[in-house]
Amino acid sequence: MKHRRSTRPVLLLLALALSGTVLAEGSAEACPGAEADRIERYRAGPDCWPPLQVDDGVDARPLGPLPSAPTVDRALRDLGETLFFDPRLSGSGQIACASCHDPEWGWADGREVPYGHDRQRGHRNTPSVANAAFQQAQFWDGRAATLRDQVLIPITNPQEMHGTLDAAVASINAVPGYAGLIHDAFGDATLDPRRLADALGAYLATITTGSTRFDLFYGGDADALSEAEIRGLDLFRSRAGCMNCHHGPLFTDGGFHNLGLHFYGSKNEDLGRYAVTGRPEDVGAFKTPGLRNVMETGPWMHNGKFRKMHGILSIYNAGGAHPRPKDDQQGDPLFPVTSPLLKPLDLSQEELADLEAFLHSLDNKKTPYFKIPDLPR
Ligand code: HEC
Ligand code: HEC
Repeated sequence: MKHRRSTRPVLLLLALALSGTVLAEGSAEACPGAEADRIERYRAGPDCWPPLQVDDGVDARPLGPLPSAPTVDRALRDLGETLFFDPRLSGSGQIACASCHDPEWGWADGREVPYGHDRQRGHRNTPSVANAAFQQAQFWDGRAATLRDQVLIPITNPQEMHGTLDAAVASINAVPGYAGLIHDAFGDATLDPRRLADALGAYLATITTGSTRFDLFYGGDADALSEAEIRGLDLFRSRAGCMNCHHGPLFTDGGFHNLGLHFYGSKNEDLGRYAVTGRPEDVGAFKTPGLRNVMETGPWMHNGKFRKMHGILSIYNAGGAHPRPKDDQQGDPLFPVTSPLLKPLDLSQEELADLEAFLHSLDNKKTPYFKIPDLPR
């Protein structure tokens, strides 16, 4: 059965006949009446969706299509693309940005935590870099504001690329095959750290997740989502409370919250946002990740400890994790408090499966378009 938006006039007549419902606000077309089931209202398009349910004080932005990528200079992007895949930026000459942010793994690495320089294990999960340009802050703790601030940090991180900026640009400048690319981007053939940041930043700005089935549905293709996926979307916007934090076109508020996964006081402790702000309320808080393409980028969470989406959804269903202070932690003013936005949800197993189905509708396996460049010699 087809559910096109062209059925709206029929629904309009039906709705008017049944209940005298008036036209939807700000819209020339009408929505299915209040007695239509919720699935029907979703299929009729975003103007007709049931109201969003979030906690008091949360200013949730509506879901919607991904903004278009910023336009960047083509030559700068091309240079950045080549550098992103080039291990010569690293101290050992073996590790490229793409070693951890691999397009074939959704621009992450499919690992709990990455292996960096000399097979050292990092301590946080590698996030996808797709859509990073739209983020208000970079890293799980938001310690870099912009991509340009961010991109040089991994090169000098001893656990990641273990290099220096001077050595990185020197090794690139020593490759004759780079001269043309650098010249096209900057007008002369010398790379310096600032230009390196510009080029990598320009390339990263073009990596987005592209359009998804959710976007088609949002745009009016009522058949783009299955019934289970629509039920999941509905839960996401209502009883499951997800939009308290995952809202707007990127499915993130750009903020930091504590889900209780910090291992405070133990060997795996990660203080998260606190390391940046020094505010006690930020202990154990991490950046809300966007959820576009999320099913492609597991394992999940800042520590990569979640290999199954069901595990994440079960934690939310339980109202988050609530580690209790041990005897010697009683009265510790830094003991992290799990976000009050998380509450037991009482969702059935079927409803959790619907939520997971909905997350799949945010996948885009085809895009982003990428090609692995030939590295200059
Ligand atoms: C050894 C693996 C590794 C390498 C190599 C690496 N990264 Fe990362 N990247 C990570 C990890 C892990 C994080 C998260 C760290 C954190 O939050 O503390 C990250 C975070 C990022 C982010 C922030 C994304 C977000 O959503 O917060 C960007 C952007 C990024 N890296 C770009 C790069 C670039 C550009 C390079 C090459 C110059 C690079 N990375 C090299 C592992 C790596
Ligand atoms: C209180 C704010 C908040 C609410 C409510 C919330 N999330 Fe999250 N979500 C976060 C934060 C913060 C993280 C990262 C936490 C960490 O790594 O410690 C996260 C992580 C995730 C991840 C892992 C993403 C990744 O890339 O690793 C998924 C999936 C997710 N949330 C889905 C949901 C769903 C589905 C709901 C509703 C049932 C929900 N969230 C409700 C804040 C929230």
